[in-house]
Amino acid sequence: MKKINADFFNKSLISIDQFSKKDIGIIFKTAEKMEKIINKKQQSNLLKGFVVVQLFYQPSTRTFTSFLAAAKWLGAMTIPLHGMASYSSAVKGESLADTIRTVHQTTAADLIVLRHPDDNSAQTASRASYVPIINAGSGKKEHPTQAILDFYTIKKELKRTTNLKVVFLGDLKYGRTIKSLGKLLSLVDKNLELFLVSPKILKMPQSLIKKWRKRGVKISQTEKLNQVLAKTDVLYVTRVQKEWFKNKKEYQKVAGSYLIDKKTIKKAKRKMIVMHPLPRVGEIAPETDQDQRAAYFRQMRNGLYIRMALLKLILIKKQ
Ligand code: NCD
Repeated sequence: MKKINADFFNKSLISIDQFSKKDIGIIFKTAEKMEKIINKKQQSNLLKGFVVVQLFYQPSTRTFTSFLAAAKWLGAMTIPLHGMASYSSAVKGESLADTIRTVHQTTAADLIVLRHPDDNSAQTASRASYVPIINAGSGKKEHPTQAILDFYTIKKELKRTTNLKVVFLGDLKYGRTIKSLGKLLSLVDKNLELFLVSPKILKMPQSLIKKWRKRGVKISQTEKLNQVLAKTDVLYVTRVQKEWFKNKKEYQKVAGSYLIDKKTIKKAKRKMIVMHPLPRVGEIAPETDQDQRAAYFRQMRNGLYIRMALLKLILIKKQ
């Protein structure tokens, strides 16, 4: 896994571990330029002649559509492939490595965006691939582009990126977005305070907590949101990841553990935000959407800008 080192050109994007603070700054600057393209509604031809393939082995709405739109807004040819787990030769037993090489040959792809249920899929794919891979969510461990758009959202909404008090709420065991975001926040905010709020059986893996503590992050764990809500700057809510439960009864036990509604949000600060990578399945009541602090719909739009920026930075060599 190559470090970015301020040079994204031709590199695969697999994990937040590849980035430095400076790299994140470069992405944000580029994303701001991308916002202008969208606001002016002027499609660019920066990526004309490039072929961007999307290989999705797991369901997706936001990540899939925003990558597709990002490539199209920049003028690339797009080959969006959903349902890879059911309709591709994976069903016949083809390896991911062979599929990656195949897709490159059959489409003349310049870049492949991959979503896959295996934790190491993006790494495996990048080793097999002739072209860069962007990890659009791998297993239970990483979702780097989501973390970058989440951090971009925090910066835009709160107008600051340090001394943050952040709650990760819900499924901290199987969720991948909060793991990538935790990595990113612990890199950029030396005074970060993290409150990990989850049912006992869905706790954040100890190995990650240890790493973040080593970086100086203050971390506390609880099952009760009301113990920490009043001092929170960012309340990051997640869905309980039903698909990873072997026993559906176990899922039922924890599915309704938390509900963010008008009553909950009353106890939060005036200047804070509620985020969610979405989809939500009951953990945020729709009545919460009216509150200005509900940032989850604005958060999605940032995904378009960040993904446009990443496509540009990886495909176009810096002059
Ligand atoms: C997330 C994912 O796929 O990990 N969705 C997304 O990309 N916005 C979160 C989830 O599915 O719960």
